[in-house]
Amino acid sequence: MSSATILITVIVAVALYRVLHRKSGIENIPGPPSPSWIFGNTLQLLLPANYGDYEFTWLKLYGPIYRLKECFGQDRLMVSDPLAFQYILNSAQFVHAPILENFGHLLYGMKSVSTVRGDTHRRLHAALNTGFTAAAVRNYQPIFEKMAHVLTEQLEQSSASSINISPLLSTATLGAISEAVLGCSTEGLGEEFVANNSEIVMLASSQSAAQILANALGALLPISVFNAAFYLPTRAFRAIRKARYLAEDLGRRVSDSTKKGMSEEVVVAQTSLILIVGQETTANAVAFGLVELAMHSHFQNQLRAEIQSNLGANPHNVPYDSMPLLNAFIKETLRLYPAVALEDRVALADAVIPIMEGIKTSTEEIITQIPVRKGQFVTMAIASFQRLESFWGADSHEFKPQRWLERSPYKGETSVGPYANLLSFLGGLRTCLGWRFAILEMQVIICELVGKFSFTLPKDDPVRVRSAIGLLPIMSNGEKGASLCVV
Ligand code: HEM
Repeated sequence: MSSATILITVIVAVALYRVLHRKSGIENIPGPPSPSWIFGNTLQLLLPANYGDYEFTWLKLYGPIYRLKECFGQDRLMVSDPLAFQYILNSAQFVHAPILENFGHLLYGMKSVSTVRGDTHRRLHAALNTGFTAAAVRNYQPIFEKMAHVLTEQLEQSSASSINISPLLSTATLGAISEAVLGCSTEGLGEEFVANNSEIVMLASSQSAAQILANALGALLPISVFNAAFYLPTRAFRAIRKARYLAEDLGRRVSDSTKKGMSEEVVVAQTSLILIVGQETTANAVAFGLVELAMHSHFQNQLRAEIQSNLGANPHNVPYDSMPLLNAFIKETLRLYPAVALEDRVALADAVIPIMEGIKTSTEEIITQIPVRKGQFVTMAIASFQRLESFWGADSHEFKPQRWLERSPYKGETSVGPYANLLSFLGGLRTCLGWRFAILEMQVIICELVGKFSFTLPKDDPVRVRSAIGLLPIMSNGEKGASLCVV
């Protein structure tokens, strides 16, 4: 055994000992029984046949606040209460959980807006936001339209009875960000970059018990030890190293051509982040939306009629924001399929989380706020929040875009998120910078595709939902993607 292996084993053993002998302080919050000490409830949460099989049942049984077991018996607080969200999202005391932060450091470096904290984060977020205002995003519309036309050409050229739409959407969204934000065409990214990007997308879409365990162990390691993993000769770390190196190289090349008034150092630090977070999130949302349309042919026909009448009337100035069915459809898709279904945070200090309604503890006490200790893991269960019956109605699990055309689709008074009272783009300090960009891009792609084609599901390839780095569609062969018959 090498001395490095011995050192890592000792560090993990010490960390495990400390974890095992620490009381969380939330033991009395009710929650489901844990089937295993090693995995706790994590396999049920992250590896069900279809995302939410267990989570949405727990939501019904225990309500918007409950306790789960993490790997190695640790307590995880599951939260889908809007008041608690407001508090956590606006508090600098709740930061990304270690594994998320550690992977952020490896992929994006220490200076990206996603990895910096506190005042540095606030300043960088505000500076970058100037490239994502409503006015700035409107300028990107021709780029989105060009990408959408390419998608149409690709679908027209395909003679297959069904087609996996996901890789086409991923290429289109990568091209849109690259051109809009970096001023660089997809060809300009280079073949090596595009190939490695596909590798990262593929790796990020897998989920297994071994990965869940590795992440739990990785979260226990001090950051310096975790960072050493960057140099491990595995396929995943090789791809991460290459992604970082290629993105930094690209950032240096494009920083002259960007007109955003940012220094080269800032552009370079954001390049990898923006290309990764802006690509698959949008591509998966459009893929899920098309699958829902394929399952709801009546609504699909109504939407097509709305699109065609608007495209016919204003082909060069489509009023995307004034198309009720289009926007109701996008909101409903983002409600049911938030890219980040589970946002893990950790408390940097003791805190008291407010909640909307009191809950009964296992000692029969009614509590109206949740005290948590420094180091407590808190999971913002975004997909659960967006299916809470008390806010969205008894049909909260159903795809019903019409709910957005009624007066008040969301019955809560506590507003969250930048868009439609949804948390799909998060909210508070780390609100997604690209949310307007993503909405316009989705509007353009949907109008183009649904205006020109009709979508049905192939009989033998139902789409399932998996939670890996984000929520993604999975085909019957277990691979990422959404098969659709397109005519
Ligand atoms: C449907 C599409 C999208 C969804 C659902 C989405 C969702 C999110 C979420 C949930 C976060 C918070 C992540 C965290 O802190 O853990 C986030 C952050 C971020 N997103 Fe998006 N995103 C989308 C598209 C985009 C696009 C197109 C861009 C850029 C062109 C973008 C840029 C960013 C950036 C830079 C951050 C980091 C913000 C910060 O930490 O201050 N996103 N996004």
